[in-house]
Amino acid sequence: MNYVSIKGTASSVPRTKISNNELSNYVDTTDEWIASRTGIKSRHLSTGETTTSLAVSAAKEALARSNTRGEDIDLIIVATISPEYFMPSTACLVQEEIGAINATSFDLSAACSGFVYGLKLASQGIRCGDYKTALLIGSEVLSKTLDWEDRSTCVLFGDGAGAVILSQDQKPGIIKTYTGSDGGGAGLLTLRASKNKNILYEGEEYNPYMEMKGRQVYSFANKIVPICIEKLLDGTEYTINDIDHFVLHQANERIIDSLARKMKLPIGRFHKNIADYGNTSAASIPIALNQLDEKGSLNKGDLVIIVGFGGGLTWGSALIKW
Ligand code: COA
Repeated sequence: MNYVSIKGTASSVPRTKISNNELSNYVDTTDEWIASRTGIKSRHLSTGETTTSLAVSAAKEALARSNTRGEDIDLIIVATISPEYFMPSTACLVQEEIGAINATSFDLSAACSGFVYGLKLASQGIRCGDYKTALLIGSEVLSKTLDWEDRSTCVLFGDGAGAVILSQDQKPGIIKTYTGSDGGGAGLLTLRASKNKNILYEGEEYNPYMEMKGRQVYSFANKIVPICIEKLLDGTEYTINDIDHFVLHQANERIIDSLARKMKLPIGRFHKNIADYGNTSAASIPIALNQLDEKGSLNKGDLVIIVGFGGGLTWGSALIKW
């Protein structure tokens, strides 16, 4: 049996960071409204960086940190809902930039659960022996998908990328993954791809920006995260009290706080960085993992649970022994 572990982490964000107060010069909002409802204080916004350039920069750093060469990578998955192109995939563009000539490369669309979905696919590919080393990236420039006149969405999101190198190992690192989806909730979070039109059909007008039914998404998140954790631990030798770190998708600080309360767990076990990044969708979990890694908070053998949830609706979790 092949096992899979995380060999290296990295992240990359646009150089420009904008606080809630600065944002209120452009959008009819206040620091008080944003911070009290979401915990967000600032976010990085692109001033030219792209989903691809952020992904490439995180990938290069992850390779360097894990002593891996581009040609060692067999699989590249980029989880994103904000690619520059439908074709070629962002993953193929990353492949070219890092010289990963032996890789199979593709993008994955599962919104804010994209990183967890990618982790499941990549680790299963390695476990069954198809691949030895995979590069998994979550990268987003969500700022280009937002209607900057819709204050109920544009203040919530940020741009950034996070990457991990996964490789075959003798001992389990990725212990278990769990994913699910519900197309019945598709209308709660949407981002239209393109207009349906041709020489015979004019097509209807559509909103090209991200749209969200905030309250319903909030309820969904509160309901699904405990299920993700329960299903993940089910059938393993671990209980919730054994878990050292919870890295939840950073959508709203209140979601994280209320979950910790509900599960009667110390809030210190939950990593929070939404104050500095906002919601970076598929990038939020790998950015958070990289922060914990860089701070030296992840000790060998620590148990980490990651949980993603978002548009689709989609959700997923993974239990990782660091
Ligand atoms: N600044 C100031 N006021 C704002 C505002 C902003 N940026 N955005 C909305 N408002 C106003 C609304 O116009 C509304 O005013 P009204 O009562 O006069 O009509 C009021 O604030 C309340 O809006 P509401 O949408 O009910 O707020 P809320 O308490 O539900 O919080 C969210 C909104 C978006 C923060 C919250 O619903 C949320 O976090 N949802 C989950 C979002 C999420 O996680 N999405 C990603 C999932 S991956």
